[in-house]
Amino acid sequence: MKGLVLAGGKGTRLYPLTNVVSKQLLPIYDKPMIYYSLSVLMLAGIKDILIISTPRDLPQYETLLQDGSKWGISISFAEQCEPGGLAQAFTIGAEFIGTEQVCLILGDNIFYGQSLKTSLRAAAKNPGGATIFGYRVKNPERYGIVKFDQNGAPEKILEKPDTAPSNVAVTGLYFYDNDVVEIARTIQPSARGELEITSVNNAYLERGDLRVEMMMRGSAWLDTGTHASLLQASLFVQIIEERQGIKVACPEEIAWQMGYISIEKLHALGADLMDSEYGAYLMALQAD
Ligand code: G1P
Repeated sequence: MKGLVLAGGKGTRLYPLTNVVSKQLLPIYDKPMIYYSLSVLMLAGIKDILIISTPRDLPQYETLLQDGSKWGISISFAEQCEPGGLAQAFTIGAEFIGTEQVCLILGDNIFYGQSLKTSLRAAAKNPGGATIFGYRVKNPERYGIVKFDQNGAPEKILEKPDTAPSNVAVTGLYFYDNDVVEIARTIQPSARGELEITSVNNAYLERGDLRVEMMMRGSAWLDTGTHASLLQASLFVQIIEERQGIKVACPEEIAWQMGYISIEKLHALGADLMDSEYGAYLMALQAD
């Protein structure tokens, strides 16, 4: 299975923070935002990842992540020249995806929770169709929302509806079979002129091939779309990390746990981070 991280867009709702810096490079407490989505893909067992961003921002991602080999994975890069919608990721990434299944994650989405790894592994193993994740939110008009029929089965996904038919938002994490490339080529732009991921999901739903997995109340799906929610996400991560002495979404640690890099390599990566607290954390990690 291939992984796509979408890290494009202008991030206008976060201006002036994003006037010269890509949103997905902004800090969430102690690491760049994109580390969180990369960690999710790595926990799902995905090792071949394409990062899609704007021509302006891509060089910075390349400098930060290089080819991924330092974490025992492969990272490549592709440009989204015009913001044409999330579903464009599949046409931009068509060659990279080849004949494989694919997982798309939005680079500004942050997930945390005990059951996350199990849900990811299950979705990644599923051979056909699509799996998306539903999460109950207070402000459904901001998201793709699931409309359920009388039997509680998903009937339609609505993109940012004025009047929401439920409080179940569709998170920015999507697993698809290889048909997604063809589906992305055939969907029509929405009223706002974008190829919506919601149109892709509705295409799978119409075929009877869409699973909506609910993320339970003990898990966190954090918003980073406003100045306040950006700060809250940082505080959330800080509280967990300070309390437990562990890091949330630390790709180096995950690479080591997954067996992609040795403990010696992990400690060397820590040393490269000089005198930062993050580097010291990596250097102190030991097998139990
Ligand atoms: C996008 C999708 C929306 C989804 C959301 C999750 O919206 O269009 O369906 O619920 O991501 O983060 P955006 O936040 O990019 O406007």
